Amino acid sequence: MKEDFPILKENVIYLDSAATSQKPLCVINKMSEYYKKSNANPHRGAYDLSVKSTSIYDNAHEVVKEFINARSSKEIIFTKNATESLNLIAYSYGLDNLNEGDEVVLSIMEHHSDLVPWQIICKKKKAVLKYMYVNENYEIDDSEFDKITSKTKIVGITHVSNVTGTINDVKKIINLAHKVNAKVVVDASQSIPHMKIDVQDLACDFLVFSAHKMYGPMGIGVLYGQEELLSKMNPFLMGGDMIEYVYEQDTTFAPLSQKFEAGTQNVEGAYGLVEAINYINKIGYDKIQKHEKELLKYAREKLEKLTFIDLYYPKNISNHTSVISFNIKNVHPHDVATLLDRAHIAVRSGNHCAQPLLRKLNIDSTVRISFSIYNDKNDIDVLVNELNKIYEMFKKFNKE
Ligand code: ALA
Repeated sequence: MKEDFPILKENVIYLDSAATSQKPLCVINKMSEYYKKSNANPHRGAYDLSVKSTSIYDNAHEVVKEFINARSSKEIIFTKNATESLNLIAYSYGLDNLNEGDEVVLSIMEHHSDLVPWQIICKKKKAVLKYMYVNENYEIDDSEFDKITSKTKIVGITHVSNVTGTINDVKKIINLAHKVNAKVVVDASQSIPHMKIDVQDLACDFLVFSAHKMYGPMGIGVLYGQEELLSKMNPFLMGGDMIEYVYEQDTTFAPLSQKFEAGTQNVEGAYGLVEAINYINKIGYDKIQKHEKELLKYAREKLEKLTFIDLYYPKNISNHTSVISFNIKNVHPHDVATLLDRAHIAVRSGNHCAQPLLRKLNIDSTVRISFSIYNDKNDIDVLVNELNKIYEMFKKFNKE
């Protein structure tokens, strides 16, 4: 698959796809084609170009609807990214539906974007924020689900952790939450590049993801919400295109999805996202998963042989996908990442926007590698070779 990605022809081993994936040429071409052939403001012009742009933008909702098996394209809202989608839910749903004493239950694995907005809303509404913690195997024990009670109004759960790669049993959590009439927000940012998402099968209330982690462009994200919920919610951003009638003191709003899509939208992004979906569909999730699982198994085996590193992922590979965090003992992760960069290997180091999780695990930061369909076993071999060199170098320094 490397051939499909022009940037990988540069001298780089890219192991940071959980931060953003690289883009295949078909996506890059599609976006440039939009500006060459179809650029105009959608929903605002009677002329041909605007009609073209409108149809590209509206069709993208249909394609995403099919992709995640939503009931209607009205349930698909385009945002800037998963972060904006999560803020939209917290402000438009949480602010109006939480009351004093209500509880919001999150997993401790949540990315800051599914955590900080709930802290703010809970403080405003005097609601209680609770966490389901991970065990020593980086998984959430079933006993943690007992935190979902009749007081729970919202549950926030990441499908896959961006730090440990743990795949959470979201279906089980959704079932439990629905038994107490709580709504569930699923963050699928780290799962959708790797596995098929079916929102009707999951039966989630809301689900979010970003295009840029699944071979699409930056600057466009998706919020899926059940129509019944979205239609009752107040808009998040106000302005052009999201209104029906505006009077001096009052406004009525446009129907879904436009109610939540204020201002000129990212049409080229929507076009690029559609092409990214076509690209995934052409390869097929079965093939993607087979390749990535094989690579994950290979990487785990190789890394587990390195006695000088600590690894942070679930023992059971069937609960693990495409993200591996680790530390070289007594070496700062930023030093490891900088030295790997000198060997043209791109990895992420730091707290990965998940400080509460890292604090719980008693670590400040990690080195993180993450794979995609364009990685191969040679990438892992080169990485392991460099890690050995880094360890030897620091061993010498530490002795001196
Ligand atoms: N959320 C992205 C990551 O985990 C940026 O790297």
